Amino acid sequence: MIVTIDGPAGAGKSSAARELARRLGFQFLDTGAMYRAVTLAALRAGVDLTDPDALLSVALACDIDATDSQVTLNGEDVTREVRTSEVTAATRHAADHPGVRERLVDLQRHVGRHRDIVTEGRDQSTVVFPDAECKIFLTASESVRAERRFLDLTKRGERVSLQEVLQTQRDRDDQDAARPIGGLAKADDAIEVSTDGMSHEQVVARLLEIVEQRR
Ligand code: C5P
Repeated sequence: MIVTIDGPAGAGKSSAARELARRLGFQFLDTGAMYRAVTLAALRAGVDLTDPDALLSVALACDIDATDSQVTLNGEDVTREVRTSEVTAATRHAADHPGVRERLVDLQRHVGRHRDIVTEGRDQSTVVFPDAECKIFLTASESVRAERRFLDLTKRGERVSLQEVLQTQRDRDDQDAARPIGGLAKADDAIEVSTDGMSHEQVVARLLEIVEQRR
């Protein structure tokens, strides 16, 4: 069974999807972490992110695993590093690159080929797994999402203001929605869940209910 969870940044997809996968005994896949890992590899190699050929070479050479609680890049644990503001801001280059997307979509489909998975991202219901048995569009209001991201970043020791987080989030929402390939869109057959005012446990319980109805 394939469960896809798409939605905007900060809707709480990662934590909810990870816990849902754990409870169902399914493999978890964090596809945003894959775009982030390619970006981190390019930044480390000093590659010009606006050079499409150079960025594609990096993406083709990367060994990425984002199926667990850890994100690894060529075997190294980069879980924390892929979530810094620097990587977050630069990830749009990898996400906008059709060749990089093609490569990552192949890897994502490979993960779902022989296993039950819960996969989260922007295009999982629409492009990567259009035939998924269960599709969820997880969202929340702009202010709730920004507050969550702000708490998350300050907990990691980053010095940012809520206003900065809100502005970055708006920019990312616009970029994600405008992307011609793999842009954020709700699939016609996806169930929309707004997480405003819901605890993590309540979100997971609602998602479990939706999956159980389709099993
Ligand atoms: O979900 P996360 O914030 O980790 O995603 C990082 C970036 O990667 C997003 O801003 C989005 O632009 C891109 N992305 C994507 N397609 C996906 C997942 C993420 O383009 N399936």
